Amino acid sequence: MTAISWSYHNPTRITFGAGSIARIGELVAGRPYVLVTYGQPVFAEIAGRIARISPKPLTIIDNIDTNPDFQDLTSACHSFLKNGANAEVIVALGGGSVIDTAKVLAAADGDFQNVQRFLQTGENRNEMNCRPVIAIPTTAGTGSEVTPWATVWDSQAKTKYSLNLPELFPEHALIDPNLMLGLPRQLTISTGLDALSHALESIWNVNANPVSTAFAINAATQVFETLPALAGDLGSLELRTLMASAALYSGLAFSNTKTALAHSLSYPVTLNHGIPHGIACSFSLPMVMRWIAGADQDCDAALVRIFGDDLMAGADRLDAFLLELGVAIKPGDYGIGKDEWRNIVKSALAGDRGRNFLGDSETVFADL
Ligand SMILES: NC(=O)c1ccc[n+]([C@@H]2O[C@H](COP(=O)([O-])OP(=O)(O)OC[C@H]3O[C@@H](n4cnc5c(N)ncnc54)[C@H](O)[C@@H]3O)[C@@H](O)[C@H]2O)c1
Ligand SMILES: [Fe+2]
Repeated sequence: MTAISWSYHNPTRITFGAGSIARIGELVAGRPYVLVTYGQPVFAEIAGRIARISPKPLTIIDNIDTNPDFQDLTSACHSFLKNGANAEVIVALGGGSVIDTAKVLAAADGDFQNVQRFLQTGENRNEMNCRPVIAIPTTAGTGSEVTPWATVWDSQAKTKYSLNLPELFPEHALIDPNLMLGLPRQLTISTGLDALSHALESIWNVNANPVSTAFAINAATQVFETLPALAGDLGSLELRTLMASAALYSGLAFSNTKTALAHSLSYPVTLNHGIPHGIACSFSLPMVMRWIAGADQDCDAALVRIFGDDLMAGADRLDAFLLELGVAIKPGDYGIGKDEWRNIVKSALAGDRGRNFLGDSETVFADL
């Protein structure tokens, strides 16, 4: 059904281009800040450059691990309180794990309990006066640089939360493809597929609107054209630039729709089988596409723009695209048995993101 009325909103300012990291001083604008990044030497080197361009940060929190969980975030909040409590802005240099940690720090005011209580009970909303975040992505995937939420993992309880507050749209996304040149092949592929998943998930989504869909078509087409070539030519600044913009467009798309079924399916696959987010949320895309094809006119029209008139043949090409990148497409390939998969699908459809899926659950169940 064509949306008769809709709205689109994204307040994040964007600066894009190779070398744009040189503008960080201008964006910080003399405000005391905390820098959040990973511990590897390459990030210490970039952090050093940032500290030379802008004033030195109050502190650098540089022990961010992938998929930040309650324990990691408690420790990051502790470091923030100790040395960075006067920060007026938080600069995140890294992928989704770093940017999402920065968003939690922005909301927590030095005490992760503030955020945890809100996530688990919905209470405490008024206590969260979020500080602004400047996001400098070093992966081309999550789109977190232009979304208002952070994924928070509870690895002990095997569950995942989304901290979602309109104030968490980053103040600025500074996207410099030069910073992505060193991303290894597997991470380039998995993060690139996360971007593809965001684009497609924003199309087969009850919240889709003409602007989000236009961004998504552009993003998905660009990922298909770029990712295989980039996987074979990791040092190409031209291809890194195309992937960075594809990830940005898909971020702009799903910043207004959230994700849908493939992401809902992915969380137990990551939590229980240790599969990286970008693979977990993309291996099911061809099957989700077969479940949605023919279900909604607008959705079909958007998918046709990407895959051509025959959507079932398009889903077969999506299978081939993933397999060529070395990504297995069957749940069994990830150690997930038939019964477990059936349960995952059942709870994914009922889950927060699963309910965004435009398709019909009967069609899904009939296929299991
Ligand atoms: N907030 C959102 O909108 C959103 C959307 C999707 C995913 N996520 C979350 O983001 C997280 C995943 O983020 P990610 O996929 O960007 O990866 P990540 O931030 O977890 O990083 C993965 C690895 O890549 C390395 N790395 C990153 N950039 C590099 C570079 N330029 N050179 C060399 N190594 C580099 C890191 O050191 C790390 O080991 C997950 O927790 C996921 O749930 C958030
Ligand atoms: Fe994702």
